[in-house]
Amino acid sequence: MEKGKITLTMIKPTAVKEHHVGDILAHIEHAGFKIIGLKMTQMPKEKAMVFYEVHKDKFFFDELVNFMKSGPVVVAILEKENAVKDFRELIGSTDPAEAEEGTIRKLFAKDKTHNAIHGSDSDENAVKEAWFFFSEMDQFRY
Ligand code: PPS
Repeated sequence: MEKGKITLTMIKPTAVKEHHVGDILAHIEHAGFKIIGLKMTQMPKEKAMVFYEVHKDKFFFDELVNFMKSGPVVVAILEKENAVKDFRELIGSTDPAEAEEGTIRKLFAKDKTHNAIHGSDSDENAVKEAWFFFSEMDQFRY
């Protein structure tokens, strides 16, 4: 797993419940990202709190954590040159109302909380988040 070439994504509970996993993964692969780790999991509250720790002082922290623990998520490590930046372009703005046409959030998100998908915000966090979910034997080279 090479810093600068990977990002971590999570398809959020509402998008999973609404059966958008296949469409979202297809979108990601067609945009040139290689899936090098993939799983479905449900975060207990403590794990969601740790994942979103940087937002612990924000007014939306409790709502975010409660939402993210509310159902299964699909997590993936994605590989591509400029993965973090290109993936954030592919998913669009945090608020789907502001997201560009054709972005994943424009297509599948509802609002700032139920916004379909997460993407790492820096190369450092991408590596940290990938290790948060995937052990070495669940990260692939092919
Ligand atoms: S910030 O303040 O700019 O750092 O936040 P932002 O990058 O826009 O969003 C960070 C994550 O918090 C979620 N979020 C919210 N959840 C609930 N309610 C509100 N109002 C809200 N605003 C932002 C947002 O979905 C982001 O989650 P991730 O998983 O990082 O995309």
